[in-house]
Amino acid sequence: MARHLITSAIPYINGIKHLGNLVGSQLPADLYARYLRARGHEVLFLCATDEHGTPAELAAAKAGKPVAEYCAEMWEVQAKLADGFRLSFDHFGRSSSTQNHKLTQHFAGVLADQGLIREVSETQMYSKADGRYLPDRYIEGTCPNCGFDSARGDQCDNCTKQLDPVDLINPHSTISGSTDLEMRETKHLYLRQSEMKDQLEEWIDTREGWPVLTTSIAKKWLNDGDGLQDRGITRDLDWGVPVQRGDEPWPGMEGKVFYVWFDAPIEYIACSQEWVEAGKGDDWARWWRTDKGADDVRYTQFMGKDNVPFHTLSFPVTILGSGEPWKLVDYIKSFNYLNYDGGQFSTSRGRGVFMDQALEILPADYWRWWLLSHAPESSDSEFTWENFQISVNKDLADVLGNFASRVTKFCRSKFSEAVPEAGTYGPDEDRLIAALTDKLREYEQHMETIEVRKAAAALRAAWVLGNEYLQEVAPWTTFKTDPDKAAAQIRLALNLIRLYAVVSAPFIPDASKQLLDAMQTDDRNWPDDVPSALAALPAGHAFAVPEVTFRKITDDERAEWQERFAGVRE
Ligand code: MF3
Ligand code: ZN
Repeated sequence: MARHLITSAIPYINGIKHLGNLVGSQLPADLYARYLRARGHEVLFLCATDEHGTPAELAAAKAGKPVAEYCAEMWEVQAKLADGFRLSFDHFGRSSSTQNHKLTQHFAGVLADQGLIREVSETQMYSKADGRYLPDRYIEGTCPNCGFDSARGDQCDNCTKQLDPVDLINPHSTISGSTDLEMRETKHLYLRQSEMKDQLEEWIDTREGWPVLTTSIAKKWLNDGDGLQDRGITRDLDWGVPVQRGDEPWPGMEGKVFYVWFDAPIEYIACSQEWVEAGKGDDWARWWRTDKGADDVRYTQFMGKDNVPFHTLSFPVTILGSGEPWKLVDYIKSFNYLNYDGGQFSTSRGRGVFMDQALEILPADYWRWWLLSHAPESSDSEFTWENFQISVNKDLADVLGNFASRVTKFCRSKFSEAVPEAGTYGPDEDRLIAALTDKLREYEQHMETIEVRKAAAALRAAWVLGNEYLQEVAPWTTFKTDPDKAAAQIRLALNLIRLYAVVSAPFIPDASKQLLDAMQTDDRNWPDDVPSALAALPAGHAFAVPEVTFRKITDDERAEWQERFAGVRE
């Protein structure tokens, strides 16, 4: 038994996340957490909302609410949806917590003590109409290179040239449309990441078995162009963690806040303090401080590929640069993008299926299964309604659900609603047990290495083995000539239902629970030894025929949903 700390990238507060966001971090992190718990490990699984930054301020303004109130409401919404998808966080925190404020200010203070922060004077676009400095992407104008009239302050989407807001012809604020912009002088803190380039590179190079996606992105940022750049970690905004040096004011930085990407990963730590504060745990330091026992912890982070630079470089600079004994990540699992029906999921354009909509249509397990079994691991993947329908109808309804229903109904009609006693196992059963043992060991291997698609494939293959066995031994035929033999076959098959429920729980927790309830057991022991696992429900053990575990998606529904989600969410 080991101790596992697991974090999922923390979703931005503004708006409900789409299924692409879900499969990129929270859902696979939950799969892994559930699996490790099922194997008897001690797990601390944390997530939170990422609440600071301009997008949160603007979303609140659009909703006509004070930003703190908006964030509190959206946290509730996201927490409820996380529950709906059965995301088993030990705590779902908030980056705006007092714990995170304090810890962020603490890190800034110690980084400054270590000489890793410098002050930089720069000019930035200020909009009088908006009463704020404008981040580059909120400024648009005509591209000096190609003449495209909606080039953004950081880049022209037409000719891809990297731009500075000052380069734009006729720049305007995309928030108010105002052209009354001026360059103003302002002072910011920069984190001296470049100082730590060698240390970071050596750390990345010595990580074993990390996904190529993770290390290749990290190496690109370390070595592209002029190499790793120092990074501004403060902003001229109202909403955020006020810039302080520990508990002390930071002269010259009054009225400024830390950049959202500086405080967000620190929330991973602060979240464990919120977990303690909420009375759910009594010691956060044994998870996070290597001087308090966290050396024994294995820490795994989950995220989409756009988050990788912040987790392989910036956050490690915060941790390592502090000179304090904080736990560093052991394994970073990153994901490509999930596309939607011939295009991209888009939050800003409301394209695709969002978490709330998904749950209105079908229960969580249907989505969990499809998303995880098609996780964008080695490349981007695509959600299509056809594919979703096929997966659900075949894997879940025909293979798993049908197995449970056929076996229990047959037993009820020919024997009783209890595990039959007669008969013994023969070569057919031995063969099944051997094949199943191989598949389960393969499944476990893929789970340990977090190869989500391969794990799903192995699990599906284990379900198929049961179906093939049933097809081959055909108890409904055997029963006519040798009822005792049929009884043994059904005894095994009933036990297989329990076994499937146990090993499938990380993917489809509700179905797993439903099947265990039907089998009238809460024996969730992992089938380390398949023969004994298949004897867990003894002769005479009562069960009930489960309600439909998974229903099929009809062609009409598929067409209707395809149509309904083709457009843009208002
Ligand atoms: N909110 C960011 C996103 O959705 C992720 C932040 S992860 C953390 O892309 F490291 F900052 F916590
Ligand atoms: Zn251009």
